[in-house]
Amino acid sequence: MTKNFEIYKCSVCGNVIEVSHSGEGTLTCCEMPMSLLDGKTTDGATEKHLPVVEIKDNKAFVTVGEVIHPMEEKHYISFIEVITPSNKIIKKKLNPNDEPKMHFCIKEKGEYIVREYCNLRGLWKTSIKA
Ligand SMILES: [Fe+2]
Repeated sequence: MTKNFEIYKCSVCGNVIEVSHSGEGTLTCCEMPMSLLDGKTTDGATEKHLPVVEIKDNKAFVTVGEVIHPMEEKHYISFIEVITPSNKIIKKKLNPNDEPKMHFCIKEKGEYIVREYCNLRGLWKTSIKA
């Protein structure tokens, strides 16, 4: 059984998918069950992955990370996304050479979950309260 917003990865081919509508089945790819990515919340590495969120007035500015993450062909942030308090998704797809940044408007009170996916180091998340 999957849950909305879960992110799964195929350990064989590297496909990454996000659940838009949950179902009973087990997700498979390359004839193997896909792995649920948890979203790491602490980063001891010198290369920083946790999204940093700055709020100014009613806007939130997200940067990956505390030290700007590389955006090279072999190592880059593939997307940044936000899950709002009312479960809307705001997502920015990124490519090598893009800046690993996005911003969004804070229109609701509550918890915003901010996630990013590094093609080498996986899923990372943080949250803010507004
Ligand atoms: Fe990385």
